[in-house]
Amino acid sequence: MGDRWYSEAVVYCLDIDTYADSDGDGVGDIRGLIGRLDYLARLGVTCLWLHPIHPSPNRDDGYDATDFYNVDPRFGTLGDFAELLHQAQNRGIRVIIDLVVNHTSDEHPWFQSARSSPDSPYRDWYVWSDTEPDDRHQGMVFPGEQNETWSYDRTAKAWFYHRFYKFQPDLNFANPQVRDEIKKIMSFWLQLGVSGFRMDAVPFIIELTEPGNPNSPKDFEFLTEMRQHIQWRRGDAVLLAEANVEPDQLPTFFGDASGSGNRIHMLFDFMLNGRLMLSLARQDPEQLIDALHDTPKLPVGGQWATFLRNHDEIDLSRLTTEQRNQVYAEFGPDENMRIYDRGIRRRLAPMLGNDRRRIELAYALQFSMRGTPVLRYGEEIGMGEDLSLRGRDAIRTPMQWSYQPNAGFSTADPEKLVRPVIDKGEFGYQTVNVTAQRSDPKSLLAWFERMIRTLREAPEIGSGSTSHIDVPVPPGVLTHRADGPTGTMVFVHNLGTDDVEVDLSSLEPEADLPIDVLADRGYGELGKLGAVKVSGYGYRWIRLCRGSAC
Ligand code: GLC
Repeated sequence: MGDRWYSEAVVYCLDIDTYADSDGDGVGDIRGLIGRLDYLARLGVTCLWLHPIHPSPNRDDGYDATDFYNVDPRFGTLGDFAELLHQAQNRGIRVIIDLVVNHTSDEHPWFQSARSSPDSPYRDWYVWSDTEPDDRHQGMVFPGEQNETWSYDRTAKAWFYHRFYKFQPDLNFANPQVRDEIKKIMSFWLQLGVSGFRMDAVPFIIELTEPGNPNSPKDFEFLTEMRQHIQWRRGDAVLLAEANVEPDQLPTFFGDASGSGNRIHMLFDFMLNGRLMLSLARQDPEQLIDALHDTPKLPVGGQWATFLRNHDEIDLSRLTTEQRNQVYAEFGPDENMRIYDRGIRRRLAPMLGNDRRRIELAYALQFSMRGTPVLRYGEEIGMGEDLSLRGRDAIRTPMQWSYQPNAGFSTADPEKLVRPVIDKGEFGYQTVNVTAQRSDPKSLLAWFERMIRTLREAPEIGSGSTSHIDVPVPPGVLTHRADGPTGTMVFVHNLGTDDVEVDLSSLEPEADLPIDVLADRGYGELGKLGAVKVSGYGYRWIRLCRGSAC
């Protein structure tokens, strides 16, 4: 394993409130999660990303904090959290937490004080305007649910800025006190033992908002400052950032113009996410070939975080209208499946018609692309969504552990649950649950365990370099490779439905003893590379050579 743990990590994200409820109050909690760490260790994940853990009125699922130095009492205590860190560490699992500091809840004591008087010590911690800014109705993140980014506050007698919902006033990053406070918050959690942060809304954090200017300047230096700060506090801590911006802007988030990676370690690859969805919808890898060719070069230590599903909608805003419509037609045909004029609020299994072959193909593809894979809870057993719930709640239903009532998530009365369990149809917990899959070697869960274990033998994917193998192939087939000092892996993924043969004989001179390390089925002896068979929706991960043998 290389020096940088995050390059070869498998990240698993979850919401504590929907994962496991230990005390029967209907809300998942830290003790419940501790009880599931063995499950996570067996699955093979090496890092947990916890969605916001702080006290919150929960109007945006915790992305609206009222106290950055505590855990939501519904989840337990700081003591429970320290115990979680210890227990996770014992199993070789690191923990990173969501750091949501672009804004606070409007119920945060800082905002309450700030709005109360122009003389409040916190007044300048937020972004105000005495007059109505011209860009009041621009830059909304949640179209359809939000119609302005500046709102008038009667108590403050001024306009305040909120990039997101009105109840999430933006902090003023031009204020050095705010910057110092954010660093203090990071230090606090690092001191407790977290391995880093998933930083929410980073392009907005560094925005030096000017009323009336929808393109306010950005202060990238703050990212450099934060990086320096955390690295001094804990040498192996990482920043994993959400920065859903145009590709040409991404390098600046990783590092400054000198080419050194002195800012964010890892960025979610939103561009690849859209392209994966489009490729799966079209059954055509063209977009992934483009992705392999035109990914910006990253500074040393810079890493992508790949994902298929997260806790938000699938954001298709970087696709063209025609491309987006193709994805909608395949994966979100009903209006009710779409959200914010740009995305889909569904889980992967239902989008792929619960077709086991396609689900495996999709995840094999994601996990073979350059970067560190991020997996969302429940995807490993093929959970579905509940479209009767509001907005993104559709994909935030409780984890389905067993055949027990409430899917074994909680012993509370069903009406007390934080969100209803999916209990009907092919995705109901009676059919889709951990208990059923745990003992079945053919289950999706068993497949994920195998696939993640295979990654352990393929460090080239996370730490090496990945490229397209440009040879003639049948339609629908993607051939790519990952190269590192540890060796070379070759991947053949068939996005189409026909069984095909792929000629990889040009790789013969490099092949030591090519063997299948993961495939959708037993293909028999691999032998020569001139006729590599792969079924419709099939895939083969082939180790070409290892280390010095290459
Ligand atoms: C990020 C989160 C999203 C949240 C928003 C506001 O985009 O991923 O869930 O609603 O920030 O904090």
